[in-house]
Amino acid sequence: MTSKEADNIYSPAEDTFLLIKAIRRYAADRVLEIGIGSGLVLSELVEKNNLAVGVDLDIQAVKSAKDSISSKPAWSKVNLVRCDSASPFRDGAFDLVVFNPPYLPSEETMDTTVDGGSGGVEVSMAWFREASRCLGKGGKIVFVASSLSDVEGLFEYVRGFGFGVEVVSRARLFFEELSVVEARLI
Ligand SMILES: C[S@@+](CC[C@H](N)C(=O)[O-])C[C@H]1O[C@@H](n2cnc3c(N)ncnc32)[C@H](O)[C@@H]1O
Repeated sequence: MTSKEADNIYSPAEDTFLLIKAIRRYAADRVLEIGIGSGLVLSELVEKNNLAVGVDLDIQAVKSAKDSISSKPAWSKVNLVRCDSASPFRDGAFDLVVFNPPYLPSEETMDTTVDGGSGGVEVSMAWFREASRCLGKGGKIVFVASSLSDVEGLFEYVRGFGFGVEVVSRARLFFEELSVVEARLI
């Protein structure tokens, strides 16, 4: 996870690239990405999925994602929304939900692109709860987790919703280990 750009849009980093590589194996009818940032992950998602919805709390991120994706032929399959997590969407609306959350442990939220709560997982938990609500039958949630945060606490939380957890991809950096996690109902 790197620092933000001057305009506060998250600069794609190792976590972004690990997630992009991992999501290439998924093809779904309706996919949601929570926290699109620059839109790079969403650009990849739209290639293999029939309908892609991207959301971000930051309007500048939504505008920047629009600028980078709107020239692509797949743009007609994309919807962008400025909102908090998956709050506007109805239950069961998506088959796949993807997110690279802010995961740095932080007592105070100074930067919503990186600060993940006191254990670094509180934002992830809130997003997971919302993602599971708007996940259709047989759907999957795919997200990034970092060893800098309370990963075990996060996995326990996810399992508490009746989901199984599988690490589908890993990267060891010199200061942290990143995982891409697939959660599905068991
Ligand atoms: C770590 S960045 C990931 C950006 C991009 N997906 C990537 O992988 O490069 C997290 C993103 O979540 C957004 N965000 C933070 N809180 C949010 C919330 N409550 N609802 C939606 N998006 C949020 C931030 O603005 C930021 O763009």
